[in-house]
Amino acid sequence: MESFYITTAIDYVNGTPHVGHAYEKVLTDIIARFRRQMGDRVHFLTGADEHGQKVQTSARARGIAPQQYVDETSAEFRALYDRLEVKYDDFIRTTEPRHQKIVRQVLQQLFDQGDIYRAEYCGFYSTRQEQFLQAKERRPDGSWPEIFGEVTEIVEPNYFFKLRQYQGWLSEFLAQNENFIFPRFRQNEVIEFLKEPLNDLCISRPKERLEWGIPLPFDENYVTYVWFDALINYYSGVVDRPGAWPARWHVIGKDILVPPHAVYWPIMLHATGIPLPKGLLVHGWWLQSGAKMSKSTGAVVNPLALVDEFGVDAFRYFLIREMNVGQDSEFTREQFLVRYNSELANNLGNLVNRTLNMTTRFAGGAVPAAGAAGDLERSLQALWVKTRDEFIPLCEGFQFHTALERAMVFLTDTNAYIEKRAPWKLGKSAEPADQALLCTSLATMAEALRLAIALIQHVTPAAAKRINAVLGYTPGPVWLDELVWGAKLNGVKVAPALVLFPRPLPPATEKKG
Ligand code: MSP
Repeated sequence: MESFYITTAIDYVNGTPHVGHAYEKVLTDIIARFRRQMGDRVHFLTGADEHGQKVQTSARARGIAPQQYVDETSAEFRALYDRLEVKYDDFIRTTEPRHQKIVRQVLQQLFDQGDIYRAEYCGFYSTRQEQFLQAKERRPDGSWPEIFGEVTEIVEPNYFFKLRQYQGWLSEFLAQNENFIFPRFRQNEVIEFLKEPLNDLCISRPKERLEWGIPLPFDENYVTYVWFDALINYYSGVVDRPGAWPARWHVIGKDILVPPHAVYWPIMLHATGIPLPKGLLVHGWWLQSGAKMSKSTGAVVNPLALVDEFGVDAFRYFLIREMNVGQDSEFTREQFLVRYNSELANNLGNLVNRTLNMTTRFAGGAVPAAGAAGDLERSLQALWVKTRDEFIPLCEGFQFHTALERAMVFLTDTNAYIEKRAPWKLGKSAEPADQALLCTSLATMAEALRLAIALIQHVTPAAAKRINAVLGYTPGPVWLDELVWGAKLNGVKVAPALVLFPRPLPPATEKKG
């Protein structure tokens, strides 16, 4: 069994979670569920990035200790992921001893082997971004872009990690591993970035300025730079799991590819002698009116409110159906409603209703055995085989949006099949041939529904469970076996009805007069 270790970025927990955080965890969950059902031994790690200036500042603003602050905020993130059915295997917090121990070990090793050195730093520092700034980042008029917040000039001794020494190695590595970063164009961005010489990375912050961090093992007057600390979570989270490392994919947003994940992290690992992850999967941003959505943008729609309104499955479905992994996407309530109505309520919801309703009406609630298939059944079965055979490779290549589109075509065609076969007409006829065809049509629609839901169960797990429950069906352990057209529902007793995706109420209209 192949081992498949997948991670998400660990979120900064100095605020409340928003759709960007949620999307990444849902996307990773869908990949993890897909690989599990394909038979891989999956380990899925997510977690919280709990150190750094922003946490220290937010905790002080609330007058509580940083540990208490992150205990509360981390729990909020975690609760959201649980609610969204993100089935992670482990949740790591960078304040945990298991993580701190490994960060200190890595630092000590790099220090002992001479890859970390002490030097005087003089220059500009942005507290908001927790980073040292370079002259080229300054505007021609001498001012600094707003994103840096307050910028102060400082002179202080600090510790530096020898990034530059490994620049040639990294360029060579990327040239030889063309598929290290998905999508490919992101890898080219990194290669471009590496055409300029790298600066060594300042990995310490003096305690007078920042207390909330992991103390350097070789100088307790400093804490570790938050990125150097955070990246190590991917490794510290599995040191006790033999065979898990290296990760198959680190799933991250495009804003944290260069330099942290594509430059610092590979160099940190290479210098320490730890194998590199096999790939970085880089997703785009959810935008609102063209701008990145974040906790500070004061979003017009709060996407997470849609979870309360339309349910977890509809939310997960929309995120994955709408976003082409790697690209950006606009989040609008209108588009959410379009997908909800036409794909979930109409296509899927309708098929569920019709199957339950007609099986109850015409067959006493038990799915009958299919008689001989006619042309209509044969062509629906052929479409199923095509759909399934395209769907799986699309998911393997992270083309979930297209995969779901194919699943929707199959559902649309199944509904069209029902229209054409018109079981309600056959039900009125006493002719044995019509009765046989009625049985065939009921068995066909039930089987098509069972297959369609098996196909998309990693995207809409709760709906899959509910549909299987009303069909009186328990799927077997081997997913691929579940995707074979057959007679698995023969004789099962179905429930009379299920409201799965209720129609949203039309927006309240203003009363005139
Ligand atoms: N703590 C760092 C990551 C450390 S990983 C060792 C961090 N945290 S974050 O909370 O700012 O972002 C967490 C993830 O959410 C990132 O991968 C980021 O790209 C993603 N998103 C944040 N806003 C986003 C959107 N609007 N859209 C999609 N994802 C974005 O960075």
